[in-house]
Amino acid sequence: MNKDVERILVSEHELASIVERLAREIDSDYEGRDLLMVGVLKGSILFMADLMKAMKNDFKIDFVVVSSYADGTESTGRVNVLKDVSQSVEGKDLLIVEDIIDSGNTLSFLVKYFLAKGAASVKIVTLFDKPDRRRVEVPVKYVGKVIPDAFIVGYGLDYAEKYRTLPYVGILKPEVYL
Ligand code: IMP
Ligand code: MG
Repeated sequence: MNKDVERILVSEHELASIVERLAREIDSDYEGRDLLMVGVLKGSILFMADLMKAMKNDFKIDFVVVSSYADGTESTGRVNVLKDVSQSVEGKDLLIVEDIIDSGNTLSFLVKYFLAKGAASVKIVTLFDKPDRRRVEVPVKYVGKVIPDAFIVGYGLDYAEKYRTLPYVGILKPEVYL
């Protein structure tokens, strides 16, 4: 285990079964529709890669880069689009793929952003949900796992760009960021 990780919260094995369940739900809900999966970089990369492999339907993918955290552990509340999708979203059914929903700022912004660009529908799949920390209400269609209020890293999630490549999800030792 990484020396900065206090304990493992979600093992590789549990991650795989969460992803498999979400893939089945999304496949059945979007059967026959024009689905565009929009990953929020960089945190969603490992989750999205595994989810895409587990899905049976055909769909298109794109990515956005947004920022609101700088290098801390608290949302600043302001969301900036640093990189937009590279195709028109008009008339498409969008599924935003996110690593974690915390304050809700990022996803609340993105849903409005894509609806304003003419998407037919905008739904969200998030691997993790920290409901205790919500400041803005956001309807989330698919949730991998509800977790307590702790700062987690691994499987795409970072702290100051570190720990993203851990294959499991762990709780970061508070002394690392305090
Ligand atoms: P929100 O806008 O506050 O909902 O924050 C969402 C974004 O904050 C996520 O996409 C993550 O990049 C980041 N984030 C929130 N909580 C954590 C965490 O526990 N570990 C790592 N990143 C987090
Ligand atoms: Mg992040």
